[in-house]
Amino acid sequence: MKIAIPKELHPGETRVAASVEVVKKLVGFGFDVTVEKGAGASSAITDTDFKDAGAVIAKDGAETLKDADVVLKIQRPTADELKLMKKGAVVCAHMSALSEKAEVEAMAKSGVTAFAMELMPRISRAQSMDILSSQSNLAGYKAVLDAASEYGSAMPMMMTAAGTIAPAKVFIMGVGVAGLQAIATAKRLGAVVTATDVRPATREQVESLGGKFLTVDEEMEKDAETSGGYAKPMPPEYFEKQKAVVSEHIKKQDIVITTALIPGRTAPILVTKEMVASMKAGSVIVDLAVEAGGNVEGSKLGKVMKSKNGVHIVGHANVPGRLPKDASQLFAKNLLNFLSPHVDKEAKTINFDFDDETVSGTCVCKDGAVVHPMLKGEEA
Ligand code: NAI
Repeated sequence: MKIAIPKELHPGETRVAASVEVVKKLVGFGFDVTVEKGAGASSAITDTDFKDAGAVIAKDGAETLKDADVVLKIQRPTADELKLMKKGAVVCAHMSALSEKAEVEAMAKSGVTAFAMELMPRISRAQSMDILSSQSNLAGYKAVLDAASEYGSAMPMMMTAAGTIAPAKVFIMGVGVAGLQAIATAKRLGAVVTATDVRPATREQVESLGGKFLTVDEEMEKDAETSGGYAKPMPPEYFEKQKAVVSEHIKKQDIVITTALIPGRTAPILVTKEMVASMKAGSVIVDLAVEAGGNVEGSKLGKVMKSKNGVHIVGHANVPGRLPKDASQLFAKNLLNFLSPHVDKEAKTINFDFDDETVSGTCVCKDGAVVHPMLKGEEA
């Protein structure tokens, strides 16, 4: 059985869907692992590292993908890559399946069996397979470092002979995996941290990390969480209330990090132009939701903007990819954890159990058809 790991083609993608540890495990299962030349270069994994782990190094994408039974990727395959894959090949990647339905159709047409890893059900058993968690955690950490390097002052309180520096006030909007890591990181750097979220369960989590929770409307927040643990889209009245509460708070903040997402939808606007205009010169906003449309009016994908009143608005693309070594390692481990339960060690093959919800919950196309209920309009 051939497992292929091609070089990522998406502009600015620094990650690779394999690590030395994961290649060793796959080779240990008796699989032939092929990695494209230079695939790990941006993640500080050399061809020699992969070769020493037991992989064959292929000279290009065509040679890597030829006859591959399983293809491991970070981003969904391009049209050219699909042409190089055999019918029935399995592809695992972040597919952005809910927002890129035409791309899923194209994968179905090409005859591959595709697993959209971002659709992994939020069950305890699947935590180790969850690419959104592993990557958001790194993004939350990096967002604070990006903010700190953009910010012209220190984060912790410093009492020096020349005077006292006040600690930075950091406000985190959206307390999922990224938000929690951002709180922990900002606290470690000595900032005074506040945070808000629509899901009431997050209050305790914020407080346990030493942050202060900013409540918007307890009544409306009672019904803000889906059974899958994600936020629901909130009604316009909530946004009005949130605007009023946040407007008062935000003008006193030095750093704001926004992470609010609703799966498969455009991110909600949480920081308006007026709020940006009310902030002090030199303040920094990091919009981690910028790839989903952004939480901040004025943020631009891949850019650091400066508002008229001197607020820096950071909109880096692919924030986990700004820590490529760790991001690749964790992503690759997520993929391995997904595949491992289905490996038949005797036959040296993979037989997916489609009764397993980690398999049925992520499979978007198979045998030439789109099969996922969320893409066929059967599920909200
Ligand atoms: P996410 O990335 O979809 O959203 C980030 C945060 O934004 C969420 O906390 C959400 O409630 C918040 N948000 C959305 N709209 C908002 C608004 N209008 N105002 C303020 N905040 C808003 O969420 P993420 O990080 O993927 O995690 C969601 C939940 O899933 C968490 O409870 C997490 O602990 C849980 N989880 C469970 C896993 C498992 O059991 N396998 C794995 C990973 C996460």
